[in-house]
Amino acid sequence: MTKNSLNHIAIIMDGNGRWAESRSHARVWGHIRGSRVVSNIIEEADALGAKALTLYTFSTENWSRPVTEVTVLFKLLRKFLLIERKRVLQNNIQFKVMGDTSKLPEVTKQLISQLEVESADNTGLKLTFAFGYGGRDEIVKATNNFIKENPGKEITEELLESYLLLPELGNVDLMIRTGGDQRISNFLLWQSAYAELFFTETRWPDFTRSEFRKICESVSCRERRFGNICPSSLESSKSKAKENREIITNF
Ligand code: FPP
Repeated sequence: MTKNSLNHIAIIMDGNGRWAESRSHARVWGHIRGSRVVSNIIEEADALGAKALTLYTFSTENWSRPVTEVTVLFKLLRKFLLIERKRVLQNNIQFKVMGDTSKLPEVTKQLISQLEVESADNTGLKLTFAFGYGGRDEIVKATNNFIKENPGKEITEELLESYLLLPELGNVDLMIRTGGDQRISNFLLWQSAYAELFFTETRWPDFTRSEFRKICESVSCRERRFGNICPSSLESSKSKAKENREIITNF
């Protein structure tokens, strides 16, 4: 069987809070443990040959969480930028943040732009943190920007795509959500139109490289038809041409 290339993998890293609560810890402890998993999964995605990995680190809806939780998430982002900078650069990874970072502390914003600039010419894995990100918001902004720049011009899928935040990431091939819920929570709505979805009960702090690898292996063997029918069905349909004609005539 030919394998599907999983060029762009997106992950909703869910279940941190429940992981901590089930151990009678504060929810933020789950984020702290979860942040340790992030680096392992980045390494594994790179080893698996993915071209892009997009991680949902903070959604537009997450702003409604308690200030302490938001503050810890901000701090974890800063810590990642400080600790992982060297590894990102050594591994030829191109790092970007997409979303609204305006409310982040100045020092974190500076660390983000520094790493984005330093890694801009890297040709390896495109690592993107979706932060202050919402899929609907992205589509609305893309549409408004298109209209502003092209008054009166009809919008097409290709044109709209070119106005998304990071069009170079392309379509999502596989979207994974940890933590047991089965929804995509406003993440990469446009880019995931034909994504394979995988939901695991494992909560993010317990998510391992080996589970990630197994998911990628199993999904890369799934048949993806993009609205078409599979080649064997096409052949069988051709061999039934007479029957097809009769059905169309008599229908
Ligand atoms: C959802 O868990 C997760 C988030 C809101 C943020 C994900 C953040 C991390 C994995 C750590 C940050 C790491 C870096 C490197 C920035 P939840 O709290 O909604 O879990 P729950 O559904 O169990 O409540």
